[in-house]
Amino acid sequence: MKISSSIFYKSSSKSDELPKINKPEIAFIGRSNVGKSSLINMLVQKKKLAKTSGKPGKTRLINHFLINNKWFLIDLPGYGFTNLSKSEKSKIFSIINNFFCQSTNLVSTFILIDIRHEPQKIDLEFMIWLKSLKISFIVIFTKSDKIKPKLCNEKAKIYLEQLKKKIKIKPKALISSSFSKFGREKILTQIKKEIQLEGD
Ligand code: GTP
Ligand code: MG
Repeated sequence: MKISSSIFYKSSSKSDELPKINKPEIAFIGRSNVGKSSLINMLVQKKKLAKTSGKPGKTRLINHFLINNKWFLIDLPGYGFTNLSKSEKSKIFSIINNFFCQSTNLVSTFILIDIRHEPQKIDLEFMIWLKSLKISFIVIFTKSDKIKPKLCNEKAKIYLEQLKKKIKIKPKALISSSFSKFGREKILTQIKKEIQLEGD
């Protein structure tokens, strides 16, 4: 899929602020610092459409980016960042919670996982919670440039086997690097498929 236009549409913190237009939505979620905002920039080929940071906790709102005037790419705040105050954490938790419980245009969810890590409790809990809402998801392994290319498939395979064993979930998965742009075409092809499935 070709990205011919990408614009920041709006930020919201609760459901009554979400865009009022009905367009298919693709959401990126995952732990803080896993590379959600960077991956959005890589996909749209802009350096600073979504704000990124070396410090976890950069994205604090629901950010809608309008792509090709047809669908939204959504950058969400990360979960699992421990250095936040209790009240900041619960605010972020409720933003994420409300988004997934109330979004009516969500066609696909991508959970981003750092390819270097073993399955972490917080990701597994989040996957189980999405499943309980009947929201299916695709895993994107991020930061593949951080490990040897030869190890990428093996790492991903082991992670997925553990998911199956621990929580009996077998999602589709893709591998990416925002730095090397690895995985861009496959992710865009998958998004195109998901949007078309909605009949748009
Ligand atoms: P929050 O908004 O805090 O939840 O974080 P995020 O998931 O949006 O992460 P962000 O895109 O801001 O990136 C976090 C850090 O990881 C930044 O320092 C990025 O430069 C780095 N990073 C992101 N993607 C990659 C990647 O593919 N490879 C490498 N090596 N670093 C990456
Ligand atoms: Mg971010």
